[in-house]
Amino acid sequence: MTTRIVILAAGQGTRMRSDLPKVLQPLAGRPLLAHVLGAARELEPVGLHVVYGHGGEQVPEALAADDVDWVLQAEQLGTGHAVAQALPGIADSDTVLVLYGDVPLISATTLAGLLSTADGGGLALLTVQLDDPTGYGRIVRDGDGHVLRIVEEKDASDAERLLTEVNTGILAAPAAQLRGWLERVDRDNSQGEYYLTDVVGLAVADGVPVDARLAASAEEVLGVNTKAQLATLERHFQRQQAERLMSEGLTLADPARFDLRGQLQTGRDVFVDVGAVFEGAVSLGDGVRVGAYCVLRDTQVGAGSRIESHSVLEDAVVGTNCSIGPFARLRPQTVLGSGAKVGNFVETKKARIGDGSKVNHLSYVGDSEIGKGTNIGAGTITCNYDGHAKHLTRIGDDVFIGSDTQLVAPVSVGDGATVGAGTTVTRDVPAASLAVSRAPQKIVADWQRPGRRDTKGD
Ligand code: UD1
Ligand code: CA
Repeated sequence: MTTRIVILAAGQGTRMRSDLPKVLQPLAGRPLLAHVLGAARELEPVGLHVVYGHGGEQVPEALAADDVDWVLQAEQLGTGHAVAQALPGIADSDTVLVLYGDVPLISATTLAGLLSTADGGGLALLTVQLDDPTGYGRIVRDGDGHVLRIVEEKDASDAERLLTEVNTGILAAPAAQLRGWLERVDRDNSQGEYYLTDVVGLAVADGVPVDARLAASAEEVLGVNTKAQLATLERHFQRQQAERLMSEGLTLADPARFDLRGQLQTGRDVFVDVGAVFEGAVSLGDGVRVGAYCVLRDTQVGAGSRIESHSVLEDAVVGTNCSIGPFARLRPQTVLGSGAKVGNFVETKKARIGDGSKVNHLSYVGDSEIGKGTNIGAGTITCNYDGHAKHLTRIGDDVFIGSDTQLVAPVSVGDGATVGAGTTVTRDVPAASLAVSRAPQKIVADWQRPGRRDTKGD
């Protein structure tokens, strides 16, 4: 059987109160729709069709997925109408699985179960039991438990509203039958919409077997209509990720205060304190410790390194046994050798800092190459930008740069050189030499501060 997946994503999402279309709202840093596409791809369908409308071309542009057939539903006339828009691209012999762009946590395993029913020629529905079924379509069964139809809340009788088994919206059916049923669906209901749910009653009338199966968990089929629901699903998703990582050996100070928006690889005995945020692809080697409230994006950290609290690392490569922060900022293309130290209020960018070198306090190191065993004193600034272009600063091995030094690039400091505190380095410093550019200190004895004169006067 060949599977085609239709994802409904044309709705407005008024209750999000946002200019961003609902299916583009982020969950763990990715659009809701990207999560659904991820689950869909795991099933390896021959076609992925996304019905979009509200928000216009923003949706296809944001997803930039070239394996998707984007189907425009210009007017949102209901879920049945939405599925019908995708059917012209689907052969009668295919099996169709309908998903929702705003139901992000659906698992491929659950969906595979529905597909096997539909491949056998039946209509498969995914349902869930809810203590509070308000707002959902209810599953109506006969005395023997066979599904008869779905009734939308707005069209339901008082007795039907008491039913707690609800429609998740997700279903699978053979394409030929689905096409026939959708041609027969009308708008004769309280919302004047073409309801996809009406195909259930039509299938029963045609004698096609309808199999309604319960989802494994309610979270898996929860939809996002409000910011509060988005936050609930975000926490659920983060909790799942935290539990998976803990089962692989990661120590988390508090799994409820952990956020991963991407992929995290961890070695043995890694500790992550509260409030850390990981984005993109991050890897932490054996024994790494990440302090409270750090943000790491697309970064590799070597074994034994410590990232102290409130440090922000982006597109950085940290060697083994390094010490970073607290309050350090490593910007893109920072590469630290083994045992390097970058301390508080230090910013680095496009900087290679060699084994055992230290930049411990209040410095800016940009467009720089620093050798091994070098010490960069407090308040050192590489002046890499002349207002027009960026220039390189090269500092060799075993160099001592005194505090409050400016290095006006392009410039280089040779191996073993010393630069006195307060120097403005504008010319290359040869290896093993001393460079100082301080103005000589002047002493004026018995100096009276102007403001003090009258206290000593007559
Ligand atoms: C729908 C189901 C209801 C189910 C509920 C589960 C119908 C008639 N009702 O109700 O039984 O319990 O989902 O959440 O199907 N959409 C389009 N084009 C449209 C209309 C909707 O793409 O013209 C998309 C929406 O973007 C959304 C999904 O379809 O992703 C569901 O639409 P929505 O209007 O939220 O349906 P509900 O009334 O919640
Ligand atoms: Ca809905």
